[in-house]
Amino acid sequence: MAATAFALQDFSRLDDAACDERIRAAKAALGERCVILGHHYQRDEVFAHADFSGDSLKLSKQAAECDAEYIVFCGVHFMAEVADILSRPEQTVILPDMAAGCSMADMANLRNVERAWKELAQVLDPDEQVTPVTYINSAADLKAFCGRHGGIVCTSSNARGVLDWSFSRREKVLFFPDQHLGRNTGHDMGIPLDEMVTWDFDKPMGGLTEEEIRKARIILWKGFCSVHQMFHPNHIDKFREQHPDGLVISHPENAFEVCQKSDYVGSTETILKTVRASEPGTHWLVGTELNLVNRLHNEMAPKGVKVQFMSPVVCMCSTMFRTDPQHLAWVMDNLVEDHVVNRIRVPEDEAREAKAALDLMLEITA
Ligand code: 13P
Ligand code: SF4
Repeated sequence: MAATAFALQDFSRLDDAACDERIRAAKAALGERCVILGHHYQRDEVFAHADFSGDSLKLSKQAAECDAEYIVFCGVHFMAEVADILSRPEQTVILPDMAAGCSMADMANLRNVERAWKELAQVLDPDEQVTPVTYINSAADLKAFCGRHGGIVCTSSNARGVLDWSFSRREKVLFFPDQHLGRNTGHDMGIPLDEMVTWDFDKPMGGLTEEEIRKARIILWKGFCSVHQMFHPNHIDKFREQHPDGLVISHPENAFEVCQKSDYVGSTETILKTVRASEPGTHWLVGTELNLVNRLHNEMAPKGVKVQFMSPVVCMCSTMFRTDPQHLAWVMDNLVEDHVVNRIRVPEDEAREAKAALDLMLEITA
C-alpha cells in the first residue's frame, strides 16, 4: 500500500501545543527507528524533543555513531549534510525546514574558493605550501575540496588541534569561511596578527599583494557570522564597569576584540559546561545566540548563577529559528507513515571526498 503523505500546509495551521502532542505521539510510534538531534541554538519548543543535543562536533559524532533508521536534524543545512556523510547509506537524514541554512556558510562557495586557489598558485604552490581548512559551517562541496587538496575540516571546539595538524604538514593555511574563528585560533597559537591576512573574495587576489601572501601564515576568508557580529567590546566594558567581579564568556565566531576582552572563549558546548560548573553568586555575560543564553539563564537562576546576554538588542540565528514545531510535526508524522520528506542527500562522489576531510578531523581531535 502506498504511504500516506501529509502536506506542510495542514501543519502550518496547528498551534504549538497540538504540534507538541503530535511529535510526542510520532516519537512513541517510531521508537528506536528515529533519533532527533538538536543544536543548542534551537528554540525551546523544538529543543525539548531532541534525543541528543550538542555543538557541531558532538552532534557529528552522534550522527556517526547512532543506529537509527531516521536521523531528524534540528539544526541547519550544513549540519544535516555532515550527518548524511558520516552516517551509513541505509540511514536517512532529514532537515525539517530546507530553508534552514547558515549565512556564514553561504559566504564561501566552490567557485570562489577554487578561484582563490588558482590565484594563490600565481604566487606559490598551494598543494605543497597551503593546507585548506574549512570550518564545519560550510557546504559539503567545500569539505570535498579540502579532501581533494590534502585539507581538513574543523569545528569551533577543535580548531586549535586542526591548525596544529595543518601546520605540521604545510607552512600556510587557507581558512574559510569564518575569519574570526581563524584569527582567534591563530592568535592563541602565537601567530602574529600581521601574519594573518584577510582574503576579500570579491577582489582579485583577495585584495592582497604578493608580498602579503608570501608573508602570511594564515589566509583568512572574509566571512563572518551575522549573529555574532552583533556583540561588541563596549558591551563587555559596560558589563565590567557595572559588575567588576562578573565573568565573560564568548563563542570564537566573535570578533578578535570581543574574544580578547573575554575571560573564556569556547564552543556552545564549552560555554554550557563552563557556566554550569560555576559557583553560586557568579554573574556571567555570554556572547552567543539568544536561545542558548535564555535557556541557560533559566537553568542557572535557581542555582544562584546569573546569566546575561551580551547584546542590549535581541539577536538570534534566524535560520536556526526556522525549524518550528509545525515543520518538526510534519516530518515526524510523515515518517510514521513511512513517507520521507526533506531528505538531505550529499552526492556520492562529493560525500566520499568530504568524508576524508571529516574523518581526519575526527581522528586527530578524538
Ligand atoms: P558550535 O559548534 O559551537 O555549536 O557552533 C555552531 C555555530 O553555528 C555557531 O554559530
Ligand atoms: Fe550560521 Fe551564525 Fe547561525 Fe551559527 S549562528 S548557524 S554561524 S548564521
